[in-house]
Amino acid sequence: MVPQRDSFTSKFGVIAAAAGSAIGLGNIWRFPYVAGENGGGAFLFVYIGFIILIGIPVMLSELSIGRAAQQNPFGAFKKLAPKTYWQVIGFMGVIAAFVILSFYATVAGWTLHYLYSSVLDSFAGQSPQQLEQTFTDFKAGTFMPVLWQVVFMVLTAFIVMAGIKDGIEKYTKVLMPILLVLILVLIVRSLTLPGAMKGLEFLFAPDFSKITGEVILEALGQAFFSLSIGMGTLITYGSYIRKDNNLVNTAVSVSMSDTLIAILAGVAIFPAVFAFNIEPSSGPGLVFITLPNIFEQMPGGYFFSLMFFLLLSVAALTSSISVLEVVVAYFSEELKMTRKKATLLASGAITLTGLLSTMSWGALSEVTLTLGSAAETDVGGGSTTLTIFDIFDFISANILLPLGGLFIVLFVGWKWKKEHFAKEISNENTFKTPYIGLMMFILKFLAPLAIAIVFLRGVGLF
Ligand code: PHE
Repeated sequence: MVPQRDSFTSKFGVIAAAAGSAIGLGNIWRFPYVAGENGGGAFLFVYIGFIILIGIPVMLSELSIGRAAQQNPFGAFKKLAPKTYWQVIGFMGVIAAFVILSFYATVAGWTLHYLYSSVLDSFAGQSPQQLEQTFTDFKAGTFMPVLWQVVFMVLTAFIVMAGIKDGIEKYTKVLMPILLVLILVLIVRSLTLPGAMKGLEFLFAPDFSKITGEVILEALGQAFFSLSIGMGTLITYGSYIRKDNNLVNTAVSVSMSDTLIAILAGVAIFPAVFAFNIEPSSGPGLVFITLPNIFEQMPGGYFFSLMFFLLLSVAALTSSISVLEVVVAYFSEELKMTRKKATLLASGAITLTGLLSTMSWGALSEVTLTLGSAAETDVGGGSTTLTIFDIFDFISANILLPLGGLFIVLFVGWKWKKEHFAKEISNENTFKTPYIGLMMFILKFLAPLAIAIVFLRGVGLF
């Protein structure tokens, strides 16, 4: 029934693909805006703690489950724990993928539009206020954002339909390092703007009085979202990894590069946020308002803007294909569809749902949900009003991914058990895994408890 599975060809290929999934809009768009809304330094501090304590263990669990089972997420749990409810994790992953891609494509569409505007040089000569207005007008118009969202979904579907291995792995290997270099160039410009220090202070000086249950949940959600964990993406990729790959090294390298890129994006953006008097808590538009300002203020801005939005679009694409792949693998392997039909159905349905998110600032801006008491919110007080976009973002990152992660660590800790996990991460005992006792302790007790407490507190149940 199961055809011979493909595999990545090299150690670097594995890291490039997994890092390609992890590194994306989550690092450059979502991290700065969520950090900006949640107090900056204090948020970063909690975020890094979660990457180490929870992120790496969950990532390692996903990779080992995938490689051991050689299956899509749903099939993987069916194979490792036949006739049990653990399969529900795979199903939750499919739903999470659906919701994530719905709003991810909105933002990726903005990126494509900014790429297009860079080509036309249409930001030239605009003041910071004008650039902010340009963005506000753009996302409130229905036609353009929807058009770009659809273009992005077509690109994603096209790659997934063709199969991933030959194209995307080859390109990410080259493009990701260039993206890193460009961020470093941006950092130099941003840091030399007047008043840059305030931005660094905001990002790195933790003000612990800002930490609330919500801030902690946001940090956890961001860690899951950015590492692409909690919904089976890395179970799927794990199933393509060869038996001689060192999974512990892979998980650690991917997590470290992902975190590094997020922090560097913060270092590029916050000094400029303060230099141009932009509110750090401006929300999802933060990067799109800040970056054009930096490009306006630097020699060769036209070229850098073009390159940057091009590479950001590629980074978004190497992530979105890994999200779509989860749904397509489920449809094709479990519901027995052809790959083509599965891709068309999944991407079609996700695009339609995504329209709701894309129109959150325009035609559907009145459809909102008002939450929370004045006392709980950290910015200014008053309650929070969520648009459809915010709701998709919140439900997936802060609810579905942490819950998925919780079940994944519980599965490895309590159901799959130490000997299977140890065998998988030591490549059938070909080398020693010195910290296995500690890892099991984290997977059995620490990670599940931490996720459960943060989750219950964050949603106000504890
Ligand atoms: N990690 C990706 C990013 O940072 C988004 C993503 C989330 C991808 C969940 C796969 C699964 O952009």
